[in-house]
Amino acid sequence: MTPPVLQVADLAKAYGAIKAVDGVSFEVKPGEIFGVIGPNGSGKTTLFNSVLGQIRPDRGRIALNGRDITQVSPRQLNRLGVGRTFQTLQVFGQMTVRDNLIVAAQEHQGSMLGRLFAPGDSGLGARADALIDQFRIRHVAHQKAGELSYGQQKLVDIAMAFMSEPALVLLDEPCAGVNPSLVGGISTLLKALNRERQGSFVVIEHNMDFVMDLCHRILVMVEGRVLAVGTPDEIRANKQVLDAYLGN
Ligand SMILES: Nc1ncnc2c1ncn2[C@@H]1O[C@H](COP(=O)(O)OP(=O)(O)O)[C@@H](O)[C@H]1O
Ligand SMILES: [Mg+2]
Repeated sequence: MTPPVLQVADLAKAYGAIKAVDGVSFEVKPGEIFGVIGPNGSGKTTLFNSVLGQIRPDRGRIALNGRDITQVSPRQLNRLGVGRTFQTLQVFGQMTVRDNLIVAAQEHQGSMLGRLFAPGDSGLGARADALIDQFRIRHVAHQKAGELSYGQQKLVDIAMAFMSEPALVLLDEPCAGVNPSLVGGISTLLKALNRERQGSFVVIEHNMDFVMDLCHRILVMVEGRVLAVGTPDEIRANKQVLDAYLGN
């Protein structure tokens, strides 16, 4: 049987007395779009950063395609085919959209600095152009990214995560701050990328409609713990989830 793309077992990370992630386990199947939702401060970003090697968890095991990656650095993860977007924009405002994409593929550190000082690579133009067309940002491809609207910069930011042709992409709030009129477009794009590239995605997002429409399964986090995992229909019908969100 094919192992899960991502397997997280009993992951925990505390900051002093705050149990940011407190014994979280889940699996992401090949080709799956897996959503992570939960109130602010419920541990979603800490979970992401643990999976991505950005912070060291206190305990737990993380496996990629059956291989233990618990102690693996962001740089190695990138090489193993894991891409990510950050909760905040990571585009270089002074660079053109197209150059941002090219530099993103040269990423070896998982950070903006790492991208900036990475060695050159000339074979990436075609890949950038394909994504520029797919994301419908051709008309701004040669503009400085900093001159674009926030929503367009967000599109660039998401496209950048796909430049390294990752098998697994983690997206931290791809719709945050984006005009509602663009949210449906991002969902359509991610569905197309998922279909065409047969990649798996893990998506953190507050926008419920977006998550319900996009994800095959959804994990609900509350106070560092897993409250529920299920299909959108199962999550919608889950009374505990309703209570957590309505605050009863
Ligand atoms: N670097 C940190 N230092 C101290 N506390 C942190 C740190 N990062 C996160 N936390 C705390 O851990 C909890 C979970 O935060 P976070 O993972 O950012 O949640 P979410 O992404 O769901 O909003 C919060 O209480 C937050 O204040
Ligand atoms: Mg967060």
